[in-house]
Amino acid sequence: MSQTNESWGSRIGLILAMAGNAVGLGNFLRFPVQAVQNGGGAFIIPYLVCFLLMGIPLLFIEWSSGRFGGKFGNHSTPYILDSMVKGRVLKYIGVFGIFTNIAVVSYYAYIESWTMSYVYHSLTGTFSGMSQSEVAGFFDSYIDIAHSTTGIPYEAVLFYILCLTINVYILSKGLKGVEKVAKIGMPLLILFGIILAARGYTLGTSGASETFPDANAWDGLNFLWTPQYSSLLDLKVWMAAAGQIFFTLSVGMGTIHCYAAYLKSKDDVALNAVSAGFMNEFVEVVLGSAIVIPIAAGYLGLDWVLNNAGFGMAFQTMPYLFQQWGPFLAAMAGFMWFGLLFFAGITSSLAMGTPWMGFMRDEFGWSSNKGAWTFGALALIMGLPTVFFYQQGVFDEYDYWAGTVSLVVFAMMETILFSWIFGMKKGWKEITDGADIVVPRIYKFIIKFITPVMLIVVFLGSVFAPKDNDWSGNFKSLFSGDGWALSNASIIKTISQSGLKEQLAVATDPMVIESLNDKMFYINMARIMLMGLFIFISLLVYLAFNKRRKEGRATL
Ligand code: ALA
Repeated sequence: MSQTNESWGSRIGLILAMAGNAVGLGNFLRFPVQAVQNGGGAFIIPYLVCFLLMGIPLLFIEWSSGRFGGKFGNHSTPYILDSMVKGRVLKYIGVFGIFTNIAVVSYYAYIESWTMSYVYHSLTGTFSGMSQSEVAGFFDSYIDIAHSTTGIPYEAVLFYILCLTINVYILSKGLKGVEKVAKIGMPLLILFGIILAARGYTLGTSGASETFPDANAWDGLNFLWTPQYSSLLDLKVWMAAAGQIFFTLSVGMGTIHCYAAYLKSKDDVALNAVSAGFMNEFVEVVLGSAIVIPIAAGYLGLDWVLNNAGFGMAFQTMPYLFQQWGPFLAAMAGFMWFGLLFFAGITSSLAMGTPWMGFMRDEFGWSSNKGAWTFGALALIMGLPTVFFYQQGVFDEYDYWAGTVSLVVFAMMETILFSWIFGMKKGWKEITDGADIVVPRIYKFIIKFITPVMLIVVFLGSVFAPKDNDWSGNFKSLFSGDGWALSNASIIKTISQSGLKEQLAVATDPMVIESLNDKMFYINMARIMLMGLFIFISLLVYLAFNKRRKEGRATL
């Protein structure tokens, strides 16, 4: 084992890096879409409750577990968990904390690369004079690699490789590189965010045109911010809210453990965790909600936004909307918006590289350079299918299994381990040791009882999501012996690709049949890739274990 003496250069550097890890594309692209798709104001209450009852507890758990593991020279979840609770199997649960990062970065860096390309196109005036449908068409062409007409051949692939290379280069400089990028990127991101959000808040009806005479940016804001209490009983909204909290805070991923493992043993974790968490929420709730939705609603109307809300919306609409501000301001706004997204993305993707690098150094003595380049190579191998077969669903498949399900599964397991096996007595001591704030004691109770129960409910709710989101109807039917009808969105039905099979069963058009068959094939390929990655990392953990045993360092 090569002991590292790497540690964070300063507290502000650490907090910015941790906040940068959390603040990401999720805050600006995923949050507004989740909010819109789950009823706007209906989403906000479950979201905030999930933040307080799952997000904050998981931050405490992950920061303190990371610092604990770091004391024993462990910087990634397999051996962080092993240092907390002895048991042969537990390190394999920690595989999630490396697997998720490599799988997520492989598609996350693709979106990050779009932002780089869109900065370039905003500055070179590609979008000037384009109509809304031409801007949307540009995006569609960009992701259609083989037939793209965006100007540079294989542009999406080139930008993707460039983006990964930049990540790898910074990672090869070790923690210092990560800290430096966070110190530059985070303040710029907040500055750009405030300028663009100010536009979202002040646009009002001035963007309305003849085509969309009713457009009003305030409709977008009102839609997001008028609470609807009925949603409190809708489990689907709760699950979406929980999923967003995991993704945005980067909990259940293993990155926080890894960053926290570079703390000194007496460093505070409580205040740091809360500061980074609240900084993320400020960026998400105050800035993230004030850009895409109100600006799009201000020009195209709320109905348009509700009908078109989706991940690509920020790329398909924003360059056109910026054009309405004149060529110079359009270039600046495009630069700021896509630049902001780039900084948000890179401070998160860098974090995703560190668990792999930490593991390979701890276990096999690898240098930062070797760790960073192999991380890049793995991300590239995993990521190229998402680039080439984006439209066939590979990207979404990775996002579903690695970016959604894995987070919940790992968060659930680590919470049970922390509260019930490591034990809340020791756990509470780890959270409060060296703390610069008084952690409310209620959190001892929440972490032990509420968080694990909520996580188990979210997990089971996702596995058994009922048809038509009709929970009460399905419970009645279950108790009267008529069984439980699963939704196609449940994990069980997703595994068997029921939705696609149903479409295939009724399809008559040979083109549609071919495209559905194609999609099923690529989805299976994506699953094989993900499983292959998981098995590969498990194997490395096994080899590391054998190595430790030979060296007399294994605990079991
Ligand atoms: N937490 C990161 C984001 O929000 C992954 O994008």
